[in-house]
Amino acid sequence: MKTLIVYYSMYGHVHKMAEAVAEGAKTVPNAEVVVRRVPETLSQEILGKMGAIEAQKSMEKVPICTVDELATADAIIFGTPTRFGNMCGQMRQFLDATGGLWATGALIGKVGSVFASSATQHGGQESTILSFIITLLHHGLVIVGLPYSFQGQMRNDEITGGSPYGASTIAGTKGERSPTTNELEAARFQGQHVATIASKLAR
Ligand SMILES: Cc1cc2nc3c(=O)[nH]c(=O)nc-3n(C[C@H](O)[C@H](O)[C@H](O)COP(=O)(O)O)c2cc1C
Repeated sequence: MKTLIVYYSMYGHVHKMAEAVAEGAKTVPNAEVVVRRVPETLSQEILGKMGAIEAQKSMEKVPICTVDELATADAIIFGTPTRFGNMCGQMRQFLDATGGLWATGALIGKVGSVFASSATQHGGQESTILSFIITLLHHGLVIVGLPYSFQGQMRNDEITGGSPYGASTIAGTKGERSPTTNELEAARFQGQHVATIASKLAR
């Protein structure tokens, strides 16, 4: 049973969440967990102007995903930063190259799930995950979120990401905030939950 975690991260927040998702998925017996990034679409010059070069270097060891790799997984967990309340353009471009998979129904019946990051608390984490799910439904994936059995999404004693739609983190307007213990716990829970459901389906 293979769980593929595919993400884009410009400044490293989604990357840290992806690592936690992978940790969670790996706790499931017989789970093979593969982590991949989607290809960059911006030039080095633009990334430099956006202050993203150092963060990009820290992620360069993570292999780039190919569209065909999606078809090899039993579960796919996507991670994206919010861009105006939606997924980022790099992820959109990657998904827009999956028409061939759609044409053959190659992803039908696989488990799909999404996690996200935004600068501000109400800057669009939920809309990013929910609008992302539209594409996954067109592909026939079986959507899995973050159930309330992850009780950390109900806490009010601290500012936190995480909703029934999926794990998320708040990066801060200058990217100064790191994923909290609770947000990383949510990501681990989601990884474990998705991999558990995928292994049940695989049986
Ligand atoms: C073009 C652009 C649009 C963005 N739109 C939003 C937004 O709508 N809401 C928000 O809270 N953050 C927004 N952000 C901030 C990113 O979501 C934030 O930098 C990201 O979550 C950090 O994750 P990363 O470190 O994995 O890249 C935007 C950033 C850029 C560059």
